[in-house]
Amino acid sequence: MKAMKRKILVVDDNVEFVGLVRRLLEHKDFQVFIALDGKTAVEKVRSEEPEIVLLDLKLPDSPGEEILKRVKEINRDIAVIIVTGFGGEQVAVDLMRKGAIDFLSKPIDSDVLYSAVKNAFEMRDAQIEDRQFEQHPTLEKFFPFLAHEIRNPLHAISGALAIIRRRSDLKDEVLGQSINIINEEVHHLNEFVQECLNFVRPPDQVRFVEVGMNEVISVVMNIVSHIYESESKRIKVIQDLDPHLPKIFANYEEIKQAFINIVKNAFEAMPEGGVLSIQTACKAESTPLIEIIFADNGIGIKPENLKSLFNPFFTTKLRGTGLGLAICRRIIVERHHGRIQIESEEKKGTTIRIELPSTRPIGE
Ligand SMILES: Nc1ncnc2c1ncn2[C@@H]1O[C@H](COP(=O)(O)OP(=O)(O)OP(=O)(O)O)[C@@H](O)[C@H]1O
Ligand SMILES: [Mg+2]
Repeated sequence: MKAMKRKILVVDDNVEFVGLVRRLLEHKDFQVFIALDGKTAVEKVRSEEPEIVLLDLKLPDSPGEEILKRVKEINRDIAVIIVTGFGGEQVAVDLMRKGAIDFLSKPIDSDVLYSAVKNAFEMRDAQIEDRQFEQHPTLEKFFPFLAHEIRNPLHAISGALAIIRRRSDLKDEVLGQSINIINEEVHHLNEFVQECLNFVRPPDQVRFVEVGMNEVISVVMNIVSHIYESESKRIKVIQDLDPHLPKIFANYEEIKQAFINIVKNAFEAMPEGGVLSIQTACKAESTPLIEIIFADNGIGIKPENLKSLFNPFFTTKLRGTGLGLAICRRIIVERHHGRIQIESEEKKGTTIRIELPSTRPIGE
């Protein structure tokens, strides 16, 4: 089967020029369409779906800028190369700020034309690929690659830093502080990479055991109060835990991680102190459910942010990775078939309600 030819639309009112460019491009096996005015150009962009448009700035019926705008409205992935006559370079540069990808000055040299077209195809393809990644991020493939690329230089930086530290005059306070900053930043990046990797780590199927949620909560509170030692002095934690809560079949480490993420967020939302209340209960619905509620009276969440909270990398914090709640969602909803719901009011506080199916109560 013959590969589909790549399509280019040439827009220019100079018939001779158009003929020449067409021959040159067809020689390189492109499929070439022609438009001698702006109106035809827009029609052909719609009907022929070119990937690249070579656009003359001076058309009889409409300015090049207008055509550029319309082409981009029809399909923003079309790469537009501006073609100018003598002296039109300044306008061409302006148009590159408005979405054109490159510009060529007449008379056009064939090698320059070929290289501009090749470049434009490459940039366009990369742009489309990036967009697909945004829409369907195959994080599982991307993160390990990213981790590798980031960690190697980080190790090198740490090593070099250790040498600098050994050899430098540690009485120099500014130098010492600078070294500490580099160290902290390297540490932060390392942690970030680790969190990304945790996020895509294949789930551990084996570790589903009977787990008591009250016990997990007390372990979590212990861990978090150590992480946030000074904050925890200003935060009052009220635990209202159902003593008869049945154990459920769950992955202990994962549930612990999910709760840590939630409690950390609550602590981070109460920098001036506040109250975090944690409640557990068993709800008898068609199947019994365990309900766990974390309610803080911290800064709350802006209404427009509510819909984005579970998106990986959504964060409003200077130092957040935005993976905390994405991980929670994965653990609670995907791995444990539960539900997680967030209610929040700005400056009032946030309540996170988790429901986990209690499919195997004790004694079964
Ligand atoms: N209890 C809370 N109070 C106020 N805002 C919250 C609370 N929990 C989550 N948020 C908001 O949701 C965002 C996403 O939270 P998430 O835990 O996913 O990421 P993060 O805390 O920003 O970063 P990370 O947890 O990866 O360090 C936060 O940046 C914050 O805006
Ligand atoms: Mg968080």
